[in-house]
Amino acid sequence: MRRALVTPPTIPAGSLATGPQPELPAPGGLLLRPWQDIDAGVFLGAYRDPAISRWHTRQPESEDEVREWFAGYRRSWQTETGVSWAVTRDGEVLGRMALNSVDLDDGVGGIAYWVLPAARGAGVAPRALTALASWAFGAGFHRLHLNHSTHNEASCRVATKAGFRLEGTKRSDAVHADGRHDMHLHARLRTDPV
Ligand SMILES: CC(C)(COP(=O)(O)OP(=O)(O)OC[C@H]1O[C@@H](n2cnc3c(N)ncnc32)[C@H](O)[C@@H]1OP(=O)(O)O)[C@@H](O)C(=O)NCCC(=O)NCCS
Repeated sequence: MRRALVTPPTIPAGSLATGPQPELPAPGGLLLRPWQDIDAGVFLGAYRDPAISRWHTRQPESEDEVREWFAGYRRSWQTETGVSWAVTRDGEVLGRMALNSVDLDDGVGGIAYWVLPAARGAGVAPRALTALASWAFGAGFHRLHLNHSTHNEASCRVATKAGFRLEGTKRSDAVHADGRHDMHLHARLRTDPV
């Protein structure tokens, strides 16, 4: 149930998902588009990559489960609670970019991403993240945040390149397979200079 507020919502409920989930173009021929059931194999395979599996502790176990996740993504769009995109180029899936933990009242959301090993090191994640941020700020979001382990230097670079400033270190904030990790908190505001 939505809470009763004495302040107006930053994004009025119902104003985000007025139509289908948008496709977002990004430089370098990238296109962020909704996940399709035919992506289930590549999505499942991504979690066999040691780096993705290391940093993303929630993992699907089968293509059927992946398709359930995709159905969940479609519901999240319709209920305005989250948005997940396949990052593609020329029809090929290169990665994932997602907006989670959406709070329309405060106009905030959290970012998650991965890029397949063969596509890394070419700026795919920062360009896709910048496209997501542009869309979200245009849709009325005020603040986007992301967390990564202090040991995940590649993710720190992505955040910084996309204008997500480091705000601090959350001590012992997340559990990974090798134990608890300190987490960097990054965020970008709609009002930040680009
Ligand atoms: C973090 C990640 C999304 C970066 O995506 P990307 O599209 O490769 O991003 P970039 O090309 O901007 O590279 C970012 C950094 O990765 C490192 N890098 C460069 N080439 C690389 C390669 N071939 N393989 C792995 N990392 C590489 C560099 O430190 C680079 O920073 P730099 O450009 O300042 O040198 C990707 O490495 C990934 O999916 N990692 C595993 C999952 C993960 O960490 N998700 C984020 C959880 S918070």
